[in-house]
Amino acid sequence: MSIDQLGNKAFINRLSGLDLPISNDADRQSFSDRLIQYGVQLEQLLREIYDDAFEDQIFNSLLYQLADNFSKRSPNLKLRDQRLANSEHWYLGHDQVGMACYVDRFAKNLNGLRLKTPYLKELGVTFLHLLPLYQSPDGENDGGYAVSDYRKVNPELGDMAQLREFIEECDKNDIHVVLDFIFNHTSDEHEWAKRAIAGEKKYQDFYFLYDDRKVPDQFDPFLREIFPHVRRGSFSYRQDIDKWIWTTFNSYQWDLNYANPNVFSAVMEEMLFLANTGCDVLRLDALSFIWKDPDTNCEGRPNTYKLINALNLCLRIAAPSVVFKSEAIVHPDNVVKYIDPQRCQLSYNPLLMGLLWSSLATTNTEFINQSLSHRFAINRQCAWVNYVRCHDDIGWFFDDKDAACVGIELNQHLAFLNDFYTNSSAAHFPSGVSFQDDPSIGDQRLCGSLASLCGLEKAMEQDNQAEISLAIKRILLLHSVILSIGGIPLIYAGDEIGMLNDYSYLDEPTQSHDARWVNRPIITTQAIELSKRTNTPQNIIFLGMTKMIAIRKLHPVFGNVATEIIKTNNPHLFVYQRKLGDQKRLIAVCNFSNLPQTLEIDNIRSAEQDEVFVDLISDEKIIISQTKTLNLSAYQVMWLKYE
Ligand code: GLC
Repeated sequence: MSIDQLGNKAFINRLSGLDLPISNDADRQSFSDRLIQYGVQLEQLLREIYDDAFEDQIFNSLLYQLADNFSKRSPNLKLRDQRLANSEHWYLGHDQVGMACYVDRFAKNLNGLRLKTPYLKELGVTFLHLLPLYQSPDGENDGGYAVSDYRKVNPELGDMAQLREFIEECDKNDIHVVLDFIFNHTSDEHEWAKRAIAGEKKYQDFYFLYDDRKVPDQFDPFLREIFPHVRRGSFSYRQDIDKWIWTTFNSYQWDLNYANPNVFSAVMEEMLFLANTGCDVLRLDALSFIWKDPDTNCEGRPNTYKLINALNLCLRIAAPSVVFKSEAIVHPDNVVKYIDPQRCQLSYNPLLMGLLWSSLATTNTEFINQSLSHRFAINRQCAWVNYVRCHDDIGWFFDDKDAACVGIELNQHLAFLNDFYTNSSAAHFPSGVSFQDDPSIGDQRLCGSLASLCGLEKAMEQDNQAEISLAIKRILLLHSVILSIGGIPLIYAGDEIGMLNDYSYLDEPTQSHDARWVNRPIITTQAIELSKRTNTPQNIIFLGMTKMIAIRKLHPVFGNVATEIIKTNNPHLFVYQRKLGDQKRLIAVCNFSNLPQTLEIDNIRSAEQDEVFVDLISDEKIIISQTKTLNLSAYQVMWLKYE
């Protein structure tokens, strides 16, 4: 018997001594099977993390919690668990198209959101990320990312019963719902924080509270400041309790102390509650910050990964159809560390996002070609979530060696990008807003809606038809890449109809200091109506998007196959190939220049001379043997399909 088997046997013996709260025989069996499959690993990981602090009793009650939460899963969810266990991973499919939205900004409330289902279907959305909709402090709450109660929906949006109903309806409409799991911190109004404030030691130990600056002063010099305009350092002073508190983000977002095993169990309980709403994906917010080690930047520490593994195992045991999406907006070497079937099956792709904006600014594609040629491939059981814009700022995370390979000095390049996108002169098409610049370290980030960053705002102000048309092409070009390069494309609600920057946040005292609100416009009925009116810019964008989405859904070659970056001798073109078996090939050719460009056909010719390609976007036929060059107009995209 192997050590593993012996371990399992000992584990099974221990299990038989536990009275787990599952009444139904079939459920008991399926739960035990999964516990036997994953339980030993879970225990090992937790022992590695918590060492002596991890008593048997803690693990036994954790198993009890897992069983209890599994038993609370609805019969439908248990069926879904079984169904998905035996099928191909849905999130790898070419039929997936994502959208992220704030419920209130997109549809007022959950009832309104239900009424938007036909719109989502029309666009082809199958993956819907509802930005945080939990109860959070009135006024400032970091766009909902300060959670006061994971079990309550913000009453202005509806209630938990409505959320569950909505998710159930989504399931019937083949829409997978993604909910935020904000587990690095809670708001200072969460029950745990309130009890800590009231002096309960148990809950004070849930956070990092200090009587003086001694520990904060040891850590601060190593830590990244996330909102340097709001507060310097990562600690906030609370007068009412005369303590310093670790707050990586805003002063009202208290970091949880995962070195305390009770925090792990308490957070796991909240996670399983959310999993039982019926969502398919939990987005692990700010996951790289969850473990703190002295003398480090406290991001992506060894125990961070172990904790994510452990939480993933808890899902495998108690809510097996739910997967994780990683939100690590960090250096590309570190983004990929979270991507693993045992950690996060899905991950945002901040590198692709940044490179798309960089290519658009420079019209040069050498940097994207160089970086993605060795950074796009990930575990084939996992998928990128590719996006161009989201509710946050654009933070630049490139690799300096990749940059140097193509003659780019990274600091200068970032300064160029920030200037390019925020410069208000007419020579620059974008209307971006600078975010949290920190001249002491040369850091600057960027806000702005996709359409405004692509030039639609300035072009419309100037009523310049030629510029409007270029802006539309840029919007479609960037979306074409996320729709075709492999992974789940995630559209930020409103971008599909070219919503512009919304400056009304400047008049709103709780928002005016946070420029991210400029790219969180309210999507009004008028805005949607405009997109239905023939030949408006909004209409052209919407039709362009729906067309590309429909094409994606028709062809499995957009699904789970490897992507090969093709380097060409034209520095303005971004070209990649996807192959499904020997027969089906798709070559995407994207012109990042505002001028016409040509591609020598030899760059994409394969051994077979008589190939015939069809450009799925223009329907044009290209007979390779009769063609020397492909001509692309400004920002044109071709999706060349061969079979
Ligand atoms: C994530 C969210 C961002 C929020 C932060 C803190 O990065 O996307 O909006 O401010 O986490 O929760």
